[in-house]
Amino acid sequence: MRLHVLGSGAGGGFPQWNCNCRNCDGLRRGSIVARARTQSSVSVSGDGVEWLLINASPDVLQQVRAHPALQPARKLRDTAIRAVLLMDAQVDHTTGLYMLRERSEPLDIWCTAAVREDLTVGNPILRVLEHYCGVRWHELPLGKCFTVDGIAGLNFTALPLQSKAPPYSPHRNQSVPGDNVGLVMTDVASRRSLFYAPGLGEIEAQVWRAMQEADCVLVDGTFWTEDEMQSAGVANKGARKLGHLPQAGAGGMMEWMARLPAATRKVLIHINNTNPILDENGAERAQLAAAGIEVAWDGMELEL
Ligand code: MLT
Ligand code: MN
Ligand code: ZN
Repeated sequence: MRLHVLGSGAGGGFPQWNCNCRNCDGLRRGSIVARARTQSSVSVSGDGVEWLLINASPDVLQQVRAHPALQPARKLRDTAIRAVLLMDAQVDHTTGLYMLRERSEPLDIWCTAAVREDLTVGNPILRVLEHYCGVRWHELPLGKCFTVDGIAGLNFTALPLQSKAPPYSPHRNQSVPGDNVGLVMTDVASRRSLFYAPGLGEIEAQVWRAMQEADCVLVDGTFWTEDEMQSAGVANKGARKLGHLPQAGAGGMMEWMARLPAATRKVLIHINNTNPILDENGAERAQLAAAGIEVAWDGMELEL
C-alpha cells in the first residue's frame, strides 16, 4: 500500500488567506521555520497505478499537479483517480469535487448515506455535478469490510466516529452514524494496515481497537490544546466541540498514542494553522518528536 499525503492542513490551509496568527504571519515573514500546507486530502493505491482519492480538497488541482502519479497521460483525457471516497461532508473535504467535473464518465463517489444527504440537500454538490459529469454513488458500509472497484490489493473498513457534521448540516448538533468515519485500509498481500481519521473528536472503543491493530495511525492533528482557537482569538469554541481531539492535556491524543505499541507508526494530519506544532523549532514539536510522533506534510509518502 502506498499512501500519498496530498494536503496535510485543516480547513483554510496554512497559511490561511486572511490569518495573521503567529504561525501564518511567521510563515509569510520567514520568522518561523515551517512548511506551507494545502487542505486535507490523501490518495492511496495498492498497485501504484490506480489511486483512490480520499476527500476532495478545495486545493485538489494544485495537489494533482504536485503528484505526477495522478496524471499517467495514457490518452488525451486521463487520470489515475479511479474513485473518490469522502469521510465526511465538510467543505474542506468536498469542495474539490467541483474541480473534477470535466469528465465524460460519471465520478465514482464512495460515502455514507448521511454524507450523501448533506451533499444533496444542505450543500447540493452532488446535484450540481449531475449537470456536468454526473455521479455514481456507492454507499460506504459501516463496520464491514469492502473493496473499491479498480483499487487492487486493498481492503477497507469504515468506522463511525464521534466528530461533527458540517456547520450547514441539519445534524451538526445531533450527530448521526456516518456523519464522520475513520478508515482502516489493509494491504491484502502484506496484511499491513493503516488507520486514517483526519477528524476524530473522541476515541471510542472500536476506534481504539482499530488504532491498536494498525501498523500506522494517521489521525487528527488539528489542535494542540482544547482552547487553542479561543486563546488565538479566532473562534469561541473548544477543540472537542469542533469535533477534534487536541494533542495535549488529559485524555488528549498524545496520551492515547503513548499507549500504542512502540512499533506503531504515529502520524498527525489535518493540522490547523493555529497549531504550535507547525513551528518546526518549537517546544511542542520537540515534545512530539520525543514521543515518536510525526507530523504529516504535503508530499509525504507512507508505504506499508
Ligand atoms: C473541520 O475540520 O472542523 C472543518 O473542516 C472546518 C472547516 O470547514 O473549515
Ligand atoms: Mn476539516
Ligand atoms: Zn493562522
